[in-house]
Amino acid sequence: MPHAATDQPSAWVARFLPLVPAGGRILDVAAGGGRHARLARSRGLEATAVDIDVSALADLRADADVEIVAADLESGPWPFAGRRFAGVIVTNYLHRPLLPLLVAALAEGGALIYETFAQGNEAFGKPSNPNFLLKAGELLEAVRGHLTVVAYEHGKIETPRPAVIQRIAAVRAPSGAVPLPSS
Ligand SMILES: C[S@@+](CC[C@H](N)C(=O)[O-])C[C@H]1O[C@@H](n2cnc3c(N)ncnc32)[C@H](O)[C@@H]1O
Repeated sequence: MPHAATDQPSAWVARFLPLVPAGGRILDVAAGGGRHARLARSRGLEATAVDIDVSALADLRADADVEIVAADLESGPWPFAGRRFAGVIVTNYLHRPLLPLLVAALAEGGALIYETFAQGNEAFGKPSNPNFLLKAGELLEAVRGHLTVVAYEHGKIETPRPAVIQRIAAVRAPSGAVPLPSS
C-alpha cells in the first residue's frame, strides 16, 4: 500500500514544473509510482516514466500520452540515447554516472528539476550511504556550462520528515537565446 504522503508530488517539482515548455514531454527518472509523471499529465504535458520496476505505473498504460519504460538505469545501457525531453525530473534517486546523461537529455528550452538527499542526511536516517547522497554543490557542478540555474537549495527540511536534501531547477537556453554573461 503506497504511503499517502509520498504519493503527493514534491513541492519543488510542482513549483518549477511551469519551466517546462507547454505541451512538451517530461522524463520522470526512477519514477516509482510516477507521482511526477502524473502531475505532468495533469498540467497538459506528455510523460515518459522509467524505472527498473514499473509495476506501480500499470494504470498509466491506459494513457496514450504516457510512455512507460522498464530499464535498469545502473547496469543497462541508457535507454534514451538520441532522445531529448522538454523536462527531466528526478526525485529521491541518485546514480552519479547518470548526471551528464540527464543534462544532455534536455532539449533546448527544457528544464531539469532534481531533488534528492544530500550529505548530512545520515544524521536523520536513510539514505546514509554516500553513494546516495549529493555532495555540497554537486547539482550546481553537474549543470555548470550547460544549463542556467533558476533555483538551488541545500539544507535541512522538516517535512515530510527531517532530512537533508539538495535541489535544483535549471534550464537549457532556447535556440537563438542570447547566452547569459559568464561571471
Ligand atoms: C525512493 S524511490 C523514488 C521514486 C520516485 N522518483 C519518487 O520520488 O516518488 C527510488 C526509485 O528508484 C528505482 N530504481 C532503483 N534502482 C534502479 C535502477 N537500477 N534502475 C532504474 N530504477 C531504479 C526504484 O525502483 C524506485 O522506484
